[in-house]
Amino acid sequence: MLEQLIEKLEHTGRLDKAEYLTLIQHRKETRDELAARACKVRARYYGQQIFIRGLIEISSFCKNNCYYCGLRAGNVHAKRYRLSSEEIISAADTGYALGFRTFVLQGGEDPFYTDEILVGIVQTLKDRYPDCAVTLSLGERGYESYRLLRQAGADRYLLRHETADPAHYGLLHPAEMSFERRMQCLKDLRSLGYQVGAGFMVGSPHQTEENLAQELVFLRDFRPEMVGIGPFLPHHDTPFAKELPGSVEMTCFLLSLIRLTLPDVLLPATTALGTADPNGREKGIMAGANVLMPNLSPAHVREKYLLYDGKICTGEEAAQCIECLKNRIRKTGCEIVTARGDCARTVR
Ligand code: 5AD
Ligand code: SF4
Ligand code: FES
Repeated sequence: MLEQLIEKLEHTGRLDKAEYLTLIQHRKETRDELAARACKVRARYYGQQIFIRGLIEISSFCKNNCYYCGLRAGNVHAKRYRLSSEEIISAADTGYALGFRTFVLQGGEDPFYTDEILVGIVQTLKDRYPDCAVTLSLGERGYESYRLLRQAGADRYLLRHETADPAHYGLLHPAEMSFERRMQCLKDLRSLGYQVGAGFMVGSPHQTEENLAQELVFLRDFRPEMVGIGPFLPHHDTPFAKELPGSVEMTCFLLSLIRLTLPDVLLPATTALGTADPNGREKGIMAGANVLMPNLSPAHVREKYLLYDGKICTGEEAAQCIECLKNRIRKTGCEIVTARGDCARTVR
């Protein structure tokens, strides 16, 4: 019965919600088999290559109040900073020399970064580094803003949906935030021709196994080019300070299911996974992930960008992280490469 479900998933990429739920409930018995198949499927599209993205955390200001996040506007203890356009370009210069061919500009929803400022930054990066992809991860913006940024040359956009269940969304966010708006943003981004990344936290408060099965159905149908998942980790200055962290095992298990559902998806082993377990990122790669996103932010701002407690790599320079990761990943039989690393679906 389980073996048949695994076969069906590998060969069709489609299970229904009840079938995904069955696998989730039997994760102990199925995870090794699913991880082996996930790695085999990944190899079909990407060989042993692991893509790296240079993550530039441009602002720790955020106007939102997500209950789980240390950067929430209501956290008066959070340290706030913004990078200037020059600082962002300079971080990219450092990254290019280290072999990065994708830059991810990530930040809280900070109204300081107007379309005009961001368009300037994106154009400068694309002029200077035409061989690189620019990914934005700046939260919800309007259609016109997304359009201008795409026109300026942005290639990809990451916007986690956080949960595919509107009722659960309401338990993670204050009333001003809307599940429907988040979904509309994802649709807008797709219609504008971005490679789109969705995603969610594993083990976020109130999440059930049913919710996780629902996540897989959502991903199966929306088919994002990228999927970012990581364990929920509590932050001491948030309403969820006392909640339990999400599990590394469940995260890795879901990475395998996602790989088998979306064989060519770009799937990072996230910093949250590396924070929850010292070998979390290696475990993620061995479960089917194929992307790493080391931090390229200037060292003096790193400890100010804290979504959760205990974040790794806040004391290291980009060059140190890259060396560290190369050594770690070699042990998994994979290899970090210098490449834009587009989704195999886009370049096909
Ligand atoms: N633990 C894990 N992930 C978090 N994120 C925000 N806060 C936390 C946390 N406490 C994730 C969210 C968000 C992304 C930027 O980081 O999924 O989309
Ligand atoms: Fe802001 Fe993103 Fe944190 Fe929510 S998760 S508070 S939108 S930075
Ligand atoms: Fe940053 Fe290991 S990846 S120190």
